[in-house]
Amino acid sequence: MANRSPAIKHTQLFINNQFVDSVSGKKFSTINPATGEKIIDIAEGDKADVDRAVVAARAAFRRGSPWRSMDASARGKLIAKLASLIERDIGHLANLESLDNGKPYEDSIFDINCAIDTFRYYAGWADKIHGNTIPSDGNFFSYTRKEPVGVVGQIIPWNYPILMLAWKWGPALAAGCTMVLKPAEQTPLTALYVASLSKEAGFPDGVINVVPGYGPTAGAAIASHRDINKVAFTGSTVVGHLIMEAAAKSNLKRVSLELGGKSPLVVCNDVDVDEAVEIAHTAIFANHGQNCCAGSRTFVQEDIYEEFVKKATDKAARRKVGDPFADGTEQGPQIDDEMFNKVLNLIESGKKEGAKLECGGQRHGTKGYFIQPTVFSNVKDSMRIAKEEIFGPVQSIIKFKTLEEVIERANNTTYGLAAGIITKNIDTALVFANAVEAGSVWVNCYDAVVPQAPFGGFKQSGTGRELGEDSLKEYLEVKTVTIKIPVKN
Ligand code: NAI
Ligand code: MG
Repeated sequence: MANRSPAIKHTQLFINNQFVDSVSGKKFSTINPATGEKIIDIAEGDKADVDRAVVAARAAFRRGSPWRSMDASARGKLIAKLASLIERDIGHLANLESLDNGKPYEDSIFDINCAIDTFRYYAGWADKIHGNTIPSDGNFFSYTRKEPVGVVGQIIPWNYPILMLAWKWGPALAAGCTMVLKPAEQTPLTALYVASLSKEAGFPDGVINVVPGYGPTAGAAIASHRDINKVAFTGSTVVGHLIMEAAAKSNLKRVSLELGGKSPLVVCNDVDVDEAVEIAHTAIFANHGQNCCAGSRTFVQEDIYEEFVKKATDKAARRKVGDPFADGTEQGPQIDDEMFNKVLNLIESGKKEGAKLECGGQRHGTKGYFIQPTVFSNVKDSMRIAKEEIFGPVQSIIKFKTLEEVIERANNTTYGLAAGIITKNIDTALVFANAVEAGSVWVNCYDAVVPQAPFGGFKQSGTGRELGEDSLKEYLEVKTVTIKIPVKN
């Protein structure tokens, strides 16, 4: 049941299966974005705490440790157990998530179910990770072993706190790594609660560590740490550059990055306009627009452009904004004052640069970080709202004439996370799917992200893949063992 005042049990760092204060004794406040008020103080981790967590994670990774000597199937069972404990406490976790992040309670339930599915998917992988036997030239035969990469640092954002945790922990645990996770400073609550569940599930000491804190301190300490073998990051492209640089300057740790996007969603003349409006609406407004793969450039073909704009505007104007804990709320607040101001500034730039404001465009209410669902038409490719990641509830509708033209315009961006097309014509869909530079392409749907299929970016939307079998590769080293044999056969 939705409850805006859930008990908050865990506010300390989680290191070596214990909740502990930070070395400095410092704390920071996590804020309720629906009110702008403090929820609670959280222990603030910094470099010294990351060091402590890495020592614990390294010890848990040593040869002969309980984790390293555990059967792979037992590792899978632990991951499955964690999924079941999350499921048991889903209501409480959803309350914590909605309080800390501001997303509607039902959206939190949805995200947590996706996190559970992700853990179950990777639980199944734990004992199915195997190498090859290879017919080497000469009197040799080779086999490969897929070994865990080691201690993994994970830095996650605030837009899907528990889901991003699951995307990072699922494959890392299945591969047999140990880890230090830094949740976003805006949303530490669910990560700390799930950490307590990992202890209850029975993960050995030091396998899972959670160090809340700020990016330039705790986050940077992870990225530049010399005893972390791999860093997995989700967040802004700007920080993605810093992470890769820190990895290069320290120990060449492996890097995977899930960064921003400016994803095109193309709506062709041949569609049912009502259906297309629904898909395009959810593509941009889901999670208040705070979605890395949001369909944030809505390209609509000229014959249906006017009708589409009218219907999309009606739909957006009816979107229910308000209290995340109230029944029927579709949109809560943006995450914090910084994001709130960034989105409002980009809205102003759209007005100034000559886009037509069809609805919204202002703050919603007087308290918290709510923004009205906003629709712009007559958007040109050169405008900031068509080029920059807004990360807010702002739909930019752009007109196009031909498929060839829209492919070129869709690809004219430094990003390449996702793309979508709505059409009844299979040839159009296939040509677009092949030509668009994006890690995920959705046809007649959008945002269909599932644990089984890989997700990640082309170009500056990132490197590496999450989810699916591909994600496991990010957490594994391949070792080749070659053995001399007297005769081939
Ligand atoms: P951010 O990239 O600063 O934060 C994401 C995570 O990185 C947080 O845990 C943060 O503490 C950490 N971090 C920040 N600076 C760091 C550093 N120097 N070293 C290591 N870790 C660091 O993103 P922010 O400021 O929250 O949002 C800015 C923009 O980034 C958004 O407007 C949006 O465009 C994009 N973004 C994209 C996300 C995605 O899902 N790909 C998620 C969040 C933001
Ligand atoms: Mg918060």
